[in-house]
Amino acid sequence: MTPHPVAQNHTTELLISSDQRLPISPVAPQSGRRTALVKAVNTVCSGVVSIELCPAAEGEPFPAFEAGAHIDLHLQGGMVRSYSLHNAPGESNRYVIGVLNDSASRGGSRWIHEHLRAGDHIPISSPRNLFALNEQQPAHSVFVAGGIGVTPILSMLRRLVQLGRGAHVILCARSRGGAPFLDELTQLTNQGITLHTHFDDEAGGPPSLRSLLMEHQQHDHFYCCGPSPMLTNFESTCAELGFANVHVERFKADQPASPKMALTGSCIVELRKSGVTMEIPKNKPALQAFLDAGVDIEFSCEEGVCGACETRILEGEAEHRDSVLSGAQKAAQKSMMVCVSRCRSDRMVLDL
Ligand code: FES
Repeated sequence: MTPHPVAQNHTTELLISSDQRLPISPVAPQSGRRTALVKAVNTVCSGVVSIELCPAAEGEPFPAFEAGAHIDLHLQGGMVRSYSLHNAPGESNRYVIGVLNDSASRGGSRWIHEHLRAGDHIPISSPRNLFALNEQQPAHSVFVAGGIGVTPILSMLRRLVQLGRGAHVILCARSRGGAPFLDELTQLTNQGITLHTHFDDEAGGPPSLRSLLMEHQQHDHFYCCGPSPMLTNFESTCAELGFANVHVERFKADQPASPKMALTGSCIVELRKSGVTMEIPKNKPALQAFLDAGVDIEFSCEEGVCGACETRILEGEAEHRDSVLSGAQKAAQKSMMVCVSRCRSDRMVLDL
């Protein structure tokens, strides 16, 4: 896992007939991919299910994960989608994710809701973390969760409870009935976590983050995961209040990647491990060319937000268009998200 200190950056035990069950999907050779058994699928509120995944092979626990981490699910039809883990770090016998049946879904969450059932097998990636928790004392942590964005925050809160530390959570949702994992959050209030809830339908509108955050200290750490407008509002409010320790996680690109500079011509790209060299237009992301050439590469969001396709740059420079790397990391030209970023040099060598 490549550490990204500030991510700029996301699920009823059911009885089904055997002909509805998914076949065991073959696990491709990319490092870190494994097959998981779907142990349970539980409805947690309207439109949201919690899915518990277990190692398919006995005696082979899952890799450890950090609070805030997410995994990719490899779905039917080649779809790959990222979901945050919401169980407690340290549980190597299971990963638990939450999936909203999003009306704006590109098809992944809908497919999960309609097809994935207890007893199925599904390929998953190793955990990646772009939303790391500051575990250092004595920093106090304040979390703002919007709807399904509560999932990575739940894992972070469980970690803070493990460490014997408190935190404050602001949970925002359109309605109480549509607030995922409200019961779990409420249970944590017995363990040092304070909870403020805001439901638009009860309050008559969206929350004022400024009034909810201004009581906190400038040296506190502030975290937010939720819909893009909330993240934008959160970041600008934190800037106005002079908060420096601000962490957000996006599972959708904030805006379509727009050209930052006109790129013309093509780049000769050598993929050192694969032993493949190809010519790629500079005005297009490289991922599709790699896939067309049969190169084995992990990817998920294809929007430059999840970090799955991060590829080490051995030579050359990229035109970065992702929301994963910090400004300093982009300037360092050590890696690139090939799903959205372009080749800027005439020649590049990648560790792929
Ligand atoms: S596939 Fe998600 S960042 Fe490239």
